[in-house]
Amino acid sequence: MIPLTCSENKPKLVIVWRITETCNLSCWFCEYNKILTKKRLSVPHSDVNRFYELLLKIQQKTNREIMLSWIGGEPFCWQPIWELSKSIKEKGKLQVSVTTNGVLLSTKDIRKQAFDTFDEITFSVDGYRTNHDDTRMHKGLYNNILESIEYFRKMKLKTGLGPLIRVNTIILRQNLNYLDLFIDELNDYGVNEISFNILGSNNLPESKANEKLSNEDMSLFVANLERLRNKYTTNQIKILGSKEYFSLLINKTDNFSNNKKKCNFGNDFLFIDQNGFIAPCDNTTNDFKVHISSITTIPEFLRLPDKFSRDNDAGIFQACSNCSNTNLYGKFQKRENSE
Ligand SMILES: C[S@@+](CC[C@H](N)C(=O)[O-])C[C@H]1O[C@@H](n2cnc3c(N)ncnc32)[C@H](O)[C@@H]1O
Ligand code: SF4
Repeated sequence: MIPLTCSENKPKLVIVWRITETCNLSCWFCEYNKILTKKRLSVPHSDVNRFYELLLKIQQKTNREIMLSWIGGEPFCWQPIWELSKSIKEKGKLQVSVTTNGVLLSTKDIRKQAFDTFDEITFSVDGYRTNHDDTRMHKGLYNNILESIEYFRKMKLKTGLGPLIRVNTIILRQNLNYLDLFIDELNDYGVNEISFNILGSNNLPESKANEKLSNEDMSLFVANLERLRNKYTTNQIKILGSKEYFSLLINKTDNFSNNKKKCNFGNDFLFIDQNGFIAPCDNTTNDFKVHISSITTIPEFLRLPDKFSRDNDAGIFQACSNCSNTNLYGKFQKRENSE
């Protein structure tokens, strides 16, 4: 039996939900690139509604902070996102966040809605100015995102409220020479945090093979990040990533799987895919095969980590034996400058 005690001391539970596979861009590195011909699923509105009502009850019962975080495809291509996110925000118990390419946040009215609705907004920005636009094959996108961020900064100053603004950047060769300019500019515009992705290596176009950094270049990149981490004061941009994550970037750019695993099987992080399967991360929804329709009560939800852990003990899954979940290695960890 799972004790339904207060879990105030537990870290925030983050549930990332891939609500749609549809996208409006064709980034060369991405499996949801709109030019790829494949079936695109989106979750039924009613599934999200039902599940978030359950999460509300769980939050009330356990008093634990819970954040629902939309990802895609492009989450803003999924129409119900606004109605649902606003409804979550109005009930005031769950936090709601989104990771976006920023294309559809382009008018003052939409930016105001986003400002009022989300607790966190992560913009994907993969390089400085035209480097970003070229990578994302969308002219003017970098400036459009900066305009959104500028709007949020001004509104925050005016109201004292508003979402945390994060930028997530894929580490590409193009970032090497522009890192200072890039992060300085994001800082000037009021970005709160920046995190970094390793370029995933599945099915990358041959013409882009040189965008992946060698270990030597990655060492240089990480040294520059460490230098920049010490440059900004407490109220300025935070460069996220644990020491371990930074050293992993240098030493294991191709393969995380040799590293000791730290999975806590859904205790602090859960992922739901476009089919409604829930798992400890986005690589394992097919392995654990737990559908959200089978979770209708608070105890069923609270038993998930135990179930995942037992299932994994019973037969280690392929995705787990090649684990590449960067969250486990501190991709989002905050550090003091002196650390
Ligand atoms: C799949 S996108 C979905 C959300 C939204 N469309 C966006 O671009 O932010 C989520 C994140 O995955 C990153 N991403 C996509 N393909 C990647 C790859 N091959 N390697 C590393 N990160 C990748 C994107 O840059 C983005 O930050
Ligand atoms: S915008 Fe996001 S989902 Fe769409 S192709 Fe680019 S990275 Fe992929």
